[in-house]
Amino acid sequence: MTVNNITKEDVLAALSKVQEPELHKDLVSLNMIKDITINGSEVKFNVVLTTPACPLKGKIEKESREAVMSIKGVEKVEVVLDSNIPSDGRNRGNLSLKAKHVVAIASGKGGVGKSTVSVNIAVALAQAGARVGLLDADIYGPNIPTMMGVERLPAFEENQIIPAEAYGVKLMSIGFLVKPGQPLIWRGPMLHSAIRQFLSDVAWGEMDYLIIDLPPGTGDAQLSLAQSIPISGGVIVTTPQVISLEDASRGLYMFKQLDIPILGVVENMSYLELPDGQIMEIFGKGGGEALANEAETEFFGKIPLNTDVRIGGDTGKPIMVSQPDSKAAKELKKISELIAAKLSVAALDRVQDIELEIIE
Ligand SMILES: Nc1ncnc2c1ncn2[C@@H]1O[C@H](COP(=O)(O)OP(=O)(O)OP(=O)(O)O)[C@@H](O)[C@H]1O
Ligand SMILES: [Mg+2]
Repeated sequence: MTVNNITKEDVLAALSKVQEPELHKDLVSLNMIKDITINGSEVKFNVVLTTPACPLKGKIEKESREAVMSIKGVEKVEVVLDSNIPSDGRNRGNLSLKAKHVVAIASGKGGVGKSTVSVNIAVALAQAGARVGLLDADIYGPNIPTMMGVERLPAFEENQIIPAEAYGVKLMSIGFLVKPGQPLIWRGPMLHSAIRQFLSDVAWGEMDYLIIDLPPGTGDAQLSLAQSIPISGGVIVTTPQVISLEDASRGLYMFKQLDIPILGVVENMSYLELPDGQIMEIFGKGGGEALANEAETEFFGKIPLNTDVRIGGDTGKPIMVSQPDSKAAKELKKISELIAAKLSVAALDRVQDIELEIIE
């Protein structure tokens, strides 16, 4: 039997032909290949993705496996997918908040599913292996504790608020600090300081993604938040109907005014699938896409109406956990991946820009 001398250079040469589909460069130039080991005809290596929730990880894994398999003498390939999430480069040091990305979920009007989307996106990112925080900035009608099935915070430690935790996500909400049903009346400065405290006095620990569920509309809480913390980007949730779209445009306009980059649009309650497979478009059609086009931003996807989504919210067991194979959960997972990918691409672009500035 002849001994094949496969070298690391052979492996790198093969992998330099595999493109990262979103960054448009090859895996080797992007420094994504680590820990190559060669054992006779067996090759093992790590591909370090820019997010564990990479939407194209299956494609990258398949193409890198095939590339290395095509080297003469290779009989077995093991691809280990790993990740190293680039930070968005924004300085949050004054809040001592260690989040690589902060994403605000907003809409122009109430009841379109911001909290539902926030909860499920947060859970989906945690399920992918990311460290995730979820901040309920809806200080008038906090829903996150119920939707995540958590009633109270853990005990304080050394004067720090310890966030609650559910489904791998750390949570903070004003709902933990007031009695259920008690009306919440805020004056401007109080509101501002409450939101700041949620960011700075909570022992969040290190996070890859902090998801912020905003209250409906475009008022004080949004302004307070934008002034308190650099936000990586905002996501607008809308329903497909025209009136909701007009409201959603207000959400977009708010992000623009506050200088928050818009990541994209999510359409919720897009259609109802009947037991015979027929699709009913209860709230109209195409609105989310139209809004994304108008704003020249990405359309992340359509979440169907599904009773289990609502039950998930009411019973504190998000659909990502209770029915991960449902259409709604799969779409939410896809949306979470597209958001994560967009954040990574934006972060890498920004870091390059910052480096270029330094060179100048
Ligand atoms: N795709 C869906 N299918 C079925 N029910 C849904 C769906 N999305 C949201 N809901 C339900 O609709 C109601 C409103 O959703 P949610 O509370 O997430 O909206 P919101 O935009 O956060 O509302 P608010 O403006 O009051 O904060 C909830 O009862 C929720 O469970
Ligand atoms: Mg809400």
